[in-house]
Amino acid sequence: MKEITVAELFAGVGGFRIGLEKASLKYRTIWANQWEPGKKIQHAFECYDKHFGPSLNNSNEDIAVAKNNCPKVDLLVGGFPCQDYSVAHSGDAKGIEGKKGVLWWYINDIIKLRKPSYVLLENVDRLLKSPSKQRGRDFGVILRCLYDLGYYAEWRVINAAEYGYPQRRRRTFIFAARKTTKWYSRIAKKINENPSEVLYKTGFFADQFKVTKGEDFIREYNLKEKVTGEKYIDLVDFSNHFQANFGNTGLMLNGKICTATTKPYKHKQTTLGDILETDGVDEKYFLGENLEKWKYMKGAKKIERTAANGHSYVFSEGPIAFPDPSDRPSRTMLTSESGANRSTHIVEDPKTKKLRFLTPVECERLNGFPDGWTDTGMPEKFRYFCMGNALVVPLITRMGKQLIKILKITEKKLD
Ligand SMILES: C[S@@+](CC[C@H](N)C(=O)[O-])C[C@H]1O[C@@H](n2cnc3c(N)ncnc32)[C@H](O)[C@@H]1O
Repeated sequence: MKEITVAELFAGVGGFRIGLEKASLKYRTIWANQWEPGKKIQHAFECYDKHFGPSLNNSNEDIAVAKNNCPKVDLLVGGFPCQDYSVAHSGDAKGIEGKKGVLWWYINDIIKLRKPSYVLLENVDRLLKSPSKQRGRDFGVILRCLYDLGYYAEWRVINAAEYGYPQRRRRTFIFAARKTTKWYSRIAKKINENPSEVLYKTGFFADQFKVTKGEDFIREYNLKEKVTGEKYIDLVDFSNHFQANFGNTGLMLNGKICTATTKPYKHKQTTLGDILETDGVDEKYFLGENLEKWKYMKGAKKIERTAANGHSYVFSEGPIAFPDPSDRPSRTMLTSESGANRSTHIVEDPKTKKLRFLTPVECERLNGFPDGWTDTGMPEKFRYFCMGNALVVPLITRMGKQLIKILKITEKKLD
């Protein structure tokens, strides 16, 4: 089997690359781009470059500038934020443009230019529902673009904890294959024969991330025409009108969508306690005198407040478990993990039984990175930040294995 060339967009500290290289030595990342907007010191890029470089092929520029430098590859990967993907007519009313700085449009441009055979993307789970006033529009725009570019796509919202990893991190993964691939012909045939079989059993995600049917039924949507049967005039018309109730599982072939909610099979859990350091951590990670402050911050509260217009209201929030239970998977780690926030994890130290913060190594373990991966010279605060941004690496390893399986099947022409 020949090597699979990869370009990694929004590379962060390299979650996709570590995951793919663990899946197979066939993956060779030949270009990576990472740039933290507005920051003079580029900690994530420096970490990436220390592990995978230094190399001229690691690009530390805004993707808006660097997009044309992305080479032709077999597989394009990247994790990007959920933004407003609506489009409007540009000045002369003939052109179409998305909002400035919205990263999807750069991915779209790269796919258009380089035509990768396969695309694997990661986004947050709310992508499927947003915006709240026109549910499903944003994800619909992505699917419509992939259709226009000549791809079929599958997606799944995966909560890492439900597949045996120690963090309840829920992300939307999208896999797309180009019309010219043998896999496309094979899967298109299967989808046309029995789409539910692909959704629940044989699709890209279903094979590695086993599921059972949820309580709802399969819903169908059309990316080419409105419910009235009228064709969308263009992407602007589409973006103005498309709505869908996307389930956590779905596929799109030839502009037609099938989606449903699936449930993962029960899996043996890995817990927060399983990844804690047990042989004594530095004193600086312990809470010290601030216990009462933390109890208050994590507790339920109702506070009377006055808005700017003079109107008074009651702000209320529920409690967060304090300390974080060590006998179950952890809550999602955010980029603000290093700060004194309600969302910061506080754990009972297994050795001293005193309360403390997570260490940077424990944050790396929550995402399945090797211990010390971000210990490349950046201040500790940024080690937490990078892990709040990163993905759960072993999920990518499973997806990498699945793509290898697909390529082997199609190379041997077992279809
Ligand atoms: C969700 S994180 C991806 C993290 C990565 N998957 C990992 O495992 O570390 C998105 C990354 O995109 C980077 N980014 C944001 N805007 C960018 C831009 N305009 N050009 C290039 N990279 C950008 C951020 O700095 C961040 O590291």
